[in-house]
Amino acid sequence: MAKRNEQVAEPETRALDAAATGEDVRFERSLRPKTLDDYIGQTKHKDNLRVFVEASRRRGEPLDHLLLSGPPGLGKTTLAQILAAEMGVELHMTNGPVVEHKGALAGLLTKLGKNDILFIDEIHRLNPVVEESLYPAMEDFRIDVMTGDGAFASSIQIPVQPFTLIGATTRTGLLTAPLHSRFGQLIRLDFYPVEDLAKIVERSAKLLGVEVAKSAALAIAARSRGTPRIANRLLRRVRDFAEVIGSGKIDDAIVIKSSERLDIDSAGFDEMDRRLLRVIIVDYDGGPVGVETLAAALGEPRDTIEDVYEPYLLQQGYLGRTTRGRVATRKAYEHLGVAFAGTAAAKQEELFDE
Ligand code: ADE
Repeated sequence: MAKRNEQVAEPETRALDAAATGEDVRFERSLRPKTLDDYIGQTKHKDNLRVFVEASRRRGEPLDHLLLSGPPGLGKTTLAQILAAEMGVELHMTNGPVVEHKGALAGLLTKLGKNDILFIDEIHRLNPVVEESLYPAMEDFRIDVMTGDGAFASSIQIPVQPFTLIGATTRTGLLTAPLHSRFGQLIRLDFYPVEDLAKIVERSAKLLGVEVAKSAALAIAARSRGTPRIANRLLRRVRDFAEVIGSGKIDDAIVIKSSERLDIDSAGFDEMDRRLLRVIIVDYDGGPVGVETLAAALGEPRDTIEDVYEPYLLQQGYLGRTTRGRVATRKAYEHLGVAFAGTAAAKQEELFDE
């Protein structure tokens, strides 16, 4: 399975995975909103950003460095692209692990035009040496280059254009304190409410040229785990079913039929979500289970469990996090049709008291 934002063309293995597949990348390019006005949801952040863009433009200065965090698929890259467009500057995109050494970072920084935006996805995965050389660039718009060695070693400072760094990460807790403190603005994107996702589905359907009933857009939204990328992907799958086995139009019935065929249940969970809950409930009597144990049982990397699967289950109250590990809540038991009683219930009271 593709991890996080790897942008590779590969077959879709999980209809509800928030990580971008090659198909997503292609479609997102055409469906992506181009302006803050077109961007649906995240209203509070959008309103603030509008002010910051206007203020920076008036002063002819770059935006403050911005750290965007949140689970994959919520629109961090989209927001960076919109900000560049609204500022009227160029966006230079890269990815933490791709910037392998200081020279590569220097190459990126010296290419920037005045007030341009440098977007570093997965910024928590920067090599520590590269990260350190980013500090003077962020603070004073300069890079320090060492020349010579031994007694002849000295450092020369190369100025770079004033720029904005937009860093994206799935979890701010993964950033070092010195890097974190150098961002002037922090924005945490949250899962989208169903009403906002339904608007995104309606907008995308219009761009794809497919008719979707309002209630059907809501039904797709309800099965999209709060994530626009998943909503857009599910819309494309439902469109396939509508065209081949339906009337071509998207109504409630075809959404329900498509979801059944894709093994997506009424809570928007797929087989992987259910397996995760089942491992905790059946194999570990409701938990607590350490994330490493969970990763081994599911055959997925720990990062993927923490970044991709868990956040929505936690936010929706199906999973709880205690100091001793993850527990399945009453809601999870009820969803899977397992009685929540006896030791599991008693154990939870004790754990949450702790
Ligand atoms: N596509 C993905 N995210 C979106 C958003 N927030 N608004 C509109 N279209 C989107």
